[in-house]
Amino acid sequence: MRILVIGRGGREHVIVWSLNRSQRVSQLYCAPGNAGIAQLAECVPIAESEFDKLAEFALQEKIDLVFVGPDDPLADGIVDHLESKGLKVYGPRKNAAEIEGSKVFTKHLLRKYNIPTAAYEAFDDYEQALAYLRAQKLPIVVKADGLAAGKGVIIANTLEEAEQALQDIMVSKVFGESGSRVVIEEFLSGQEMSILSFVDGEVVRPMIPSQDHKRAYDGDKGLNTGGMGTYSPVPHIADSIVQEAIETIIKPTAKAMVAEGRPFRGVLFAGLMITDEGPKTIEFNARFGDPEAQVVLPLLQTELLDIVEASLDGRLADVDIQWSDGAAVCVILASGGYPGSYAKGLAIEGLEQVDALVFHAGTAEQDGKLVTNGGRVLGVVGQGQTIAEAREKAYAQADRIHFEGKHYRTDIANKALV
Ligand code: AMP
Ligand code: GLY
Repeated sequence: MRILVIGRGGREHVIVWSLNRSQRVSQLYCAPGNAGIAQLAECVPIAESEFDKLAEFALQEKIDLVFVGPDDPLADGIVDHLESKGLKVYGPRKNAAEIEGSKVFTKHLLRKYNIPTAAYEAFDDYEQALAYLRAQKLPIVVKADGLAAGKGVIIANTLEEAEQALQDIMVSKVFGESGSRVVIEEFLSGQEMSILSFVDGEVVRPMIPSQDHKRAYDGDKGLNTGGMGTYSPVPHIADSIVQEAIETIIKPTAKAMVAEGRPFRGVLFAGLMITDEGPKTIEFNARFGDPEAQVVLPLLQTELLDIVEASLDGRLADVDIQWSDGAAVCVILASGGYPGSYAKGLAIEGLEQVDALVFHAGTAEQDGKLVTNGGRVLGVVGQGQTIAEAREKAYAQADRIHFEGKHYRTDIANKALV
């Protein structure tokens, strides 16, 4: 089979690595890819947003399957576009990707179908939003409606912070048109957990749970990032709670999307808060998480390609999906300054001494040398029988890699060491 993966981050590296485990793959391309992906696939210099060029390339190269990694092209309808050219594509169509692309859409859906989530109101008028905000209890959560690179959510502990957030989003438009509408919602407290599932219409095949660390620094300090590290499974949350989340949130949501005429096909990512009243939805994403994929996919024993093909053939309910009973921990090595401004083009050394999976997030090759090329640079994945073992391995190997300004959190998976 000839496969094209779309994207350029650590998530796409692990997707390429996972697909590449199948004997049936004869040719792998990635557009645009990165220096790590280039070791497994041929990288094609076409951006994720260039739908016409991607379609032209895929038709010319007789691509049998296109796998879309990131959220932006999904929200912009890349699947519909490529399908209209006769290509086979794994990922949700535009009307289903809206579950990530619009928080207002998703909150209304959850309310309509009685699916547990934080209480909320949505506004497109600044004055009305402000009046509502002033009448709420603190802390309160203010969210831009659209995609905002993971930065459109503000948890405000004071009214001043909340008003500032609203002003930034709706008036100053710091997230552009994503901020024309806002969701103001109740603050939920509890343990967080993510469950990604392969979904095709009403068929839901959950993956093993995982957990990200979004803040830049240890102890959940600093700004939100795309994700500084993950672990899987999540042993401190009982299986019964995981099952409850699947039965009360994920399956009903897949069903609701079908009822709304927006059947979801692809990877549905549920971000959950385990509250005293049970699991509640924080958000849905329409794709693999990054870096959730870097811990979940190495634990998948079945070939990813078998699952994707079964899904495209309408056989997702029947495919046998096996998971390792071990654990994986991913530590992200980031550029100094990330998520603020940072330098690029710094030499990366020591990779050849690493005895673990390393997925490239922001790297490039310059004059035959590997250099940094993004905020998140590499993800080092340790595996073991337990989280403790996987964690120790990830950190031991992460220490062997060097670049100027390298920073990483030292407390990834600490919560799971119980
Ligand atoms: P999101 O982009 O919706 O995943 O939000 C980013 C992060 O903000 C989540 O991972 C949570 O840690 C936090 N968050 C979002 N909504 C809430 C909420 N209603 N209550 C508490 N924390 C929240
Ligand atoms: N790691 C969070 C995300 O991919 O949205």
